[in-house]
Amino acid sequence: MSGDFTGRSALVSGGAGGLGGATARRLVELGMGVIILEPDYERGAAFAKELGDRAVAIAGDHNDDEAVSSAIAAAQALGVFSVNVNAVGVVINTPATAAADGTPHDMALFREMVELHLFGPFNMSRLSAAAFSANAPDEDGQRGVIVDTASTAAYDGQAHQAAYAASKAGVAGMTTAMARDLAEIGVRACAIAPGPILTPRLASASDTLKAALIGNVAFPKRFGRAEEYASLVEAILRTPFLNGQTIRLDGAMSTPLTAMSGAQEPK
Ligand SMILES: NC(=O)c1ccc[n+]([C@@H]2O[C@H](COP(=O)([O-])OP(=O)(O)OC[C@H]3O[C@@H](n4cnc5c(N)ncnc54)[C@H](O)[C@@H]3O)[C@@H](O)[C@H]2O)c1
Repeated sequence: MSGDFTGRSALVSGGAGGLGGATARRLVELGMGVIILEPDYERGAAFAKELGDRAVAIAGDHNDDEAVSSAIAAAQALGVFSVNVNAVGVVINTPATAAADGTPHDMALFREMVELHLFGPFNMSRLSAAAFSANAPDEDGQRGVIVDTASTAAYDGQAHQAAYAASKAGVAGMTTAMARDLAEIGVRACAIAPGPILTPRLASASDTLKAALIGNVAFPKRFGRAEEYASLVEAILRTPFLNGQTIRLDGAMSTPLTAMSGAQEPK
């Protein structure tokens, strides 16, 4: 599995998005069958068509067990289902923990953010790992690999990011625990913590925010590319001794304490 991906299949949640899309493309290039799980079937199907007949879209939400189980069954029909990459995100404008006028952060909004950015990846991870457990082990005893997506906000949350940062810190925290849980069944779990990567959500940000974000990156002085995220997923797959880690992909960025993201900006 670390070298030969042919005959294997993967499930990518958010697989028609910026990071998920680049990953789905790379996994198809590596010879894998890929299931793209997206809420909007038309969008997922259009992207799958672009990738060719080894990619198939399934409509559904990553928190919906039935949809995830259908996606896993579809992945099993495409090959030995052994890779799960989770790259779901939505932009929700979130307030400060308490506003200057004394209004506290809305709890329903906090819950919604955490359900989307933490519960979803855990749901995908647990159901995928359960499916991997039935696979024949490779030469290392490995049956599958999970890659979740954290963020530099896991360590450097900015103002107005309490819910997002909590979710992403949760992803980083659960990754090591999952790797230890899943050792028994030969499943690895890693996560990637991206800094600013130029995907459609960042492309739509103001020039001021874009310049400020690039200003925080040490080197190379630019946004990351979605293909670099896909390359890191590939490196994780090819490196069996790498396990339980959340790897920053951020050009050694340092984040200021200030609120970089205005109310309308992407996270
Ligand atoms: N792009 C960045 O700069 C960056 C930086 C740090 C972290 N991240 C994280 O990476 C992940 C992907 O970000 P992106 O930039 O590729 O975003 P994106 O918006 O391009 O892609 C996200 C995809 O998730 C899909 N999606 C939304 N809700 C879903 C659900 N309930 N079930 C299944 N799919 C769903 C969307 O349709 C979309 O295609 C997010 O978790 C984000 O927080 C991104």
